[in-house]
Amino acid sequence: MIRRVRLEDIDRVMEIERACFPVAWEYSIFLNICLQGGEMPSGKTGFLFMDVIEKNKVVIGYAVWETNPKKSRGHILNLAIHTDERRRGYGKMLLAHILDHLEAIGITSCILEVRVSNAPARALYESNGFVVSSRIPGYYFDEDALVYSLQL
Ligand SMILES: CC(C)(COP(=O)(O)OP(=O)(O)OC[C@H]1O[C@@H](n2cnc3c(N)ncnc32)[C@H](O)[C@@H]1OP(=O)(O)O)[C@@H](O)C(=O)NCCC(=O)NCCS
Repeated sequence: MIRRVRLEDIDRVMEIERACFPVAWEYSIFLNICLQGGEMPSGKTGFLFMDVIEKNKVVIGYAVWETNPKKSRGHILNLAIHTDERRRGYGKMLLAHILDHLEAIGITSCILEVRVSNAPARALYESNGFVVSSRIPGYYFDEDALVYSLQL
């Protein structure tokens, strides 16, 4: 089940975030999103969304994405699945959920950044039609980012 994030999810989200990324997002970022019900204005005209994926009523992953209606573009900011639940199709499910949402609101493209060394994420995006559109040197300070994009 995929649903909008709630305040009570925050500890579990932080646990997954810290286990997934060398540099985790701050608690305060997730708190701000949760306090606004997982949906808040972003930029001049866009919105930011955060949903979680549950298995047996336990949160096993989450995604954060934003929209830029002016450019008709979505931007995936975060997507993570608990280490115990990997390779079971949940990342793919969350990604499809984001892309369905973007399409439903009339957005026509989607981008994201990923570490060059992040083979699992790159494989997930490439198997869903994303292509590398550019490389940003030092984006993560210790590593370059690849920018992936997809036309919806
Ligand atoms: C990237 C991530 C979200 C994938 O989640 P997941 O639930 O394990 O992915 P899925 O099971 O849905 O895999 C879908 C497809 O992605 C590819 N893939 C996923 N993990 C892979 C891996 N470790 N090695 C190779 N391909 C992989 C495969 O093509 C897979 O399809 P298949 O299982 O039929 O071969 C997960 O590894 C994760 O949370 N990583 C840490 C956080 C992260 O890096 N997020 C992305 C930031 S941009």
